[in-house]
Amino acid sequence: MALFATDALAHKHILITGATGGIGFETAKVVAGMGAKVTITGRNEEKLNALADELGRITDEENISVQPANLTNNEDRLKLITNAEKAHGFINGLVNSAGVAGGRTVEELDEEFIEKLMNLNYKSTFLLTQEIYRKMMERREGDIVNLASLSGLRGTHGNTAYAASKFAVVGWTQSMALEAIEYGIRVNAVCPGYVDTEMARGSIRRKAERNGISFDEGMKEAAATIPSGRISTPEEVANTIAFLLTDAARNIVGESVKISGGSVM
Ligand SMILES: NC(=O)c1ccc[n+]([C@@H]2O[C@H](COP(=O)([O-])OP(=O)(O)OC[C@H]3O[C@@H](n4cnc5c(N)ncnc54)[C@H](OP(=O)(O)O)[C@@H]3O)[C@@H](O)[C@H]2O)c1
Repeated sequence: MALFATDALAHKHILITGATGGIGFETAKVVAGMGAKVTITGRNEEKLNALADELGRITDEENISVQPANLTNNEDRLKLITNAEKAHGFINGLVNSAGVAGGRTVEELDEEFIEKLMNLNYKSTFLLTQEIYRKMMERREGDIVNLASLSGLRGTHGNTAYAASKFAVVGWTQSMALEAIEYGIRVNAVCPGYVDTEMARGSIRRKAERNGISFDEGMKEAAATIPSGRISTPEEVANTIAFLLTDAARNIVGESVKISGGSVM
């Protein structure tokens, strides 16, 4: 169901990272349906092209640009920005959805894994944002939405490294929001609980194995902990992101918007 006007984001060129993933993919569909020009990125070129085909049924093909990139690579990040600008001009919307999951207990953690999480979830995402922000500052215009998590708001069992990386996202979102708003640029975060994507299914599968139950039982158990009785859909998160990118949200600054069926208030 389309919730927003088909021209609500017609003035926007939105770069979406993690577009090959569950949440990024849905976000691309929602904002394309709102008239935005969209640049989609991820490492998996095949998935990006399949998404572009799907987007071609929602909007003009000319509104879509496909730019594969490994965000942990500095050259890739710079090339991504240059190519996105070549395709659609100034980037005035950024959705940082690329991320890696990290359900591991303290005993299971090692340096390599911690670096992997902090590199993508915090450092590389921030560096990409910083580069785009410099241009937004010149134009005094832009909206940025970061994918944090409930794990960026409170600790949970077996989640040390992921929680640290998502607390970092909430932290830089809030701090940057205060600098950016002086230039008319808004920075916000969304903090979903479980969302029905490969990432959440992987975490639930690992937890179920640890507890000696089946994946289906794990899914039921996860849903049962949520006051609304179910995990979120990617579309519900995408709609929240899309709203934050619209002018209707123009006085929402540095927020961490929870989408969790009442799990955390
Ligand atoms: N699903 C949940 O329950 C949930 C809950 C709270 C927060 N979140 C957050 O929401 C965001 C999206 O999650 P999701 O569920 O959509 O995850 P997902 O389906 O696993 O997608 C992850 C995305 O990150 C991209 N990615 C991973 N490593 C990359 C790299 N080095 N360079 C560029 N892209 C890379 C992947 O693209 P390629 O594989 O193509 O590179 C993929 O598009 C993440 O930041 C996640 O932490 C998710």
